[in-house]
Amino acid sequence: MLPSGKETRKIKTSSRETVLTIEKYASDGVSIGYEDNKVIFVRYAIPGEKVRVNVYKETKDYALAEPLEIITPSPERIAAPCPYFGMCGGCDYQMIDYAKQLQIKQDLVLEVFHKIGKIDLPALTGVVSSGQEFYYRNTETFKVNPRRKLIGFFRKDTKFIIDLEECRLAMKDINEAMNYMRAQDPFPPHNFKVRSTSLGETTVNWVDTERYEDRSVYEEITASGKTIRYKISKDSFFQVNNSVIPLWLDKITGFLDESHSERIFDLYCGIGLITLFVAPFAKETIGVEIAKSSIKDANYNLEINRDKGLRDANISFVLGDVMEELPRLGYADVMIIDPPRKGAEREVLDLMMEMGPKKIIYSSCKPATMARDLQILSDKYDLKEIYLVDMFPQTHHVELLSLIVKK
Ligand SMILES: C[S@@+](CC[C@H](N)C(=O)[O-])C[C@H]1O[C@@H](n2cnc3c(N)ncnc32)[C@H](O)[C@@H]1O
Repeated sequence: MLPSGKETRKIKTSSRETVLTIEKYASDGVSIGYEDNKVIFVRYAIPGEKVRVNVYKETKDYALAEPLEIITPSPERIAAPCPYFGMCGGCDYQMIDYAKQLQIKQDLVLEVFHKIGKIDLPALTGVVSSGQEFYYRNTETFKVNPRRKLIGFFRKDTKFIIDLEECRLAMKDINEAMNYMRAQDPFPPHNFKVRSTSLGETTVNWVDTERYEDRSVYEEITASGKTIRYKISKDSFFQVNNSVIPLWLDKITGFLDESHSERIFDLYCGIGLITLFVAPFAKETIGVEIAKSSIKDANYNLEINRDKGLRDANISFVLGDVMEELPRLGYADVMIIDPPRKGAEREVLDLMMEMGPKKIIYSSCKPATMARDLQILSDKYDLKEIYLVDMFPQTHHVELLSLIVKK
């Protein structure tokens, strides 16, 4: 795993060439080669390849490098479809085909679970692959340099904007909106965020200022036999890959009991994406979320979907920190948690174990913190199923979904 961002910023900028053989894939989208005993993290390179690299950051123990020439290419190397690949910081794995990307991600998850969670799994329970390998992202935040008229993304480990005409990960409407913004006179003064939906709505919101009104969009998701409509405001969280969201939701509802007698908590619930799909399975469902914008959307989403089989569902949303709200909510048969990348706080995990739900469904976009949390929960819970849900093709990112049950 790459050293943390904080340490990375401290390491010195350098520029020197060396030739390496790549040994293995590592977390965070890099591969590893060695120069004498020094670890060199190399981007966009495949194990087995001999590469001439530029070492661009360095400490006495390790360095970061990028390939200048692939001297001996791997038979697994394919031509990356995007002309910006290797410059723009968005993608890590376009030089390998999608099936191989999924294999690499599975192997790295097993390694992280072994190293950080001390959890040895022979294999993941399954993989949910993405229906779309490109043009799947429903939101992008573009960096803008108005003086130099640049719009795009930062080059990896730098603040240098790579000017883009198209991002192959973004939905086509997002690229259209980005180029519309580029054509404006005066040139856009701030970074901006574009969100598109499968209903054909696209909105552009400024990132760096509060001076503008928040333009929301609507999205519809069909899963588990229901179609639910969601309002998504500028500052609300929404999962990024529309082709995977229904498959992920189907897996979550598949973990639930059909008895309609359970209390379900959806902790870190965002705008209620999971909450409104699991509610028809429950006697009562409570979503907890700290962001005001998201909880406002969640309550609105509940109202606009009342006629979609949720009329009699007993659903409520609580604005607040999970750590403070959870003790007030009473017993739950099922707790669903989908925390931010830093994982759940130790206090939350202890509280969950004390409250003792029969099942915990844990979804996470950060394997290392999930492995840490599952190890803590393993005092009282057994890991039954764990899926790699590939929300993020072409990148090293993964979503993991697990079912753990009380011992
Ligand atoms: C990964 S998102 C998941 C959202 C939702 N489950 C979904 O799939 O759309 C994590 C959410 O946790 C919220 N959050 C972060 N820290 C929190 C806390 N301490 N208490 C409650 N919610 C929190 C964030 O605002 C964000 O909406």
